[in-house]
Amino acid sequence: MDINIMTDRELAEIISTDKYDGELIAQADRVRRENYGTDVYLRGLIEICNVCKNDCLYCGIRRSNGHVDRYRLSREDIMNCCENGYALGFRTFVLQGGEDPYYSDGVICSIVSEIKEKYPDCAVTLSLGEKERESYAAYRAAGADRYLLRHETANEEHYARLHPEGMSLKHRKDCLFILKELGYQVGSGFMVGSPWQTAENLVEDLRFLQTLEPDMIGIGPFIPHRDTPFRDFPGGTLEQTVRMVAILRLMFPYALIPSTTALGTIHPLGREMGLKAGANVVMPNLSPVRVRKLYELYDNKICTGEEAAECRNCLENRITNAGYKVVSARGDVKKR
Ligand code: 5AD
Ligand code: FES
Repeated sequence: MDINIMTDRELAEIISTDKYDGELIAQADRVRRENYGTDVYLRGLIEICNVCKNDCLYCGIRRSNGHVDRYRLSREDIMNCCENGYALGFRTFVLQGGEDPYYSDGVICSIVSEIKEKYPDCAVTLSLGEKERESYAAYRAAGADRYLLRHETANEEHYARLHPEGMSLKHRKDCLFILKELGYQVGSGFMVGSPWQTAENLVEDLRFLQTLEPDMIGIGPFIPHRDTPFRDFPGGTLEQTVRMVAILRLMFPYALIPSTTALGTIHPLGREMGLKAGANVVMPNLSPVRVRKLYELYDNKICTGEEAAECRNCLENRITNAGYKVVSARGDVKKR
């Protein structure tokens, strides 16, 4: 079974059956070990704000959700998170947030450059949504190394059902290619099991990623949020998400693939299963505990009550128990 020579139809079949899971996962783990050994990289996630001008139908912090207690971290808050994280061994900081005009390009750039000045041995990753080329260029010039922007689904009609009018798949894809042009290490990805998603859609996601050639690929199960229009849809499954992680590892041997918090939310050992299927990154939360609960993209998100140090230790134990090793390094992509 070679994923890399399969037709779309064959792939769709693999995606929708659990028949080959054992073999798939074993193959993926082999490929992961050939490229990255047992190393698992840590990314310190700082959720800088839950204010968002967008209204994606799946997302708990969408603009129309009036039940969200909105917050914004100050520059001092963010620098404190980094200080704490650096002491815990983190060498990548991920600043993620809703699309919030309050953080102007000037503000973002000055925060990025302050982090890079204080911690020159660290990588800064941004995950702040769709912006103009000029903004991405300015962040890059200020020192940002990487950018995460999931494409969410590579199918036009499906994209339109998950997003409000006015958002477009084309614009999102354009952003991703611009980020690459600007020299970022780029991460994309999608949710598994989002409403109306078919196996054929997932094949399209894989094909799109093959044209993008991202350095990082983040996926996680869709999990319904009680205050969104998708509250009554079923969530993505553990099995299918883990299977997709394995397929991604086989298709993208060099990629940095996180075992996501969403995966850990739908099963107590979800993240361990992701690691065993080829994931090689974990992204523990460095946000101040007082805002943790408020960055709720989906229901029952884990790690909202723990301090950064607790998550760091918890994850280290989990990674060791799964047979892998935490490394304190920037963890840049290994080039093809
Ligand atoms: N379930 C799972 N993942 C979600 N995301 C947003 N809402 C949900 C949800 N309800 C994911 C999106 C986004 C990332 C930050 O979180 O894929 O890109
Ligand atoms: Fe946060 Fe286990 S990773 S408590």
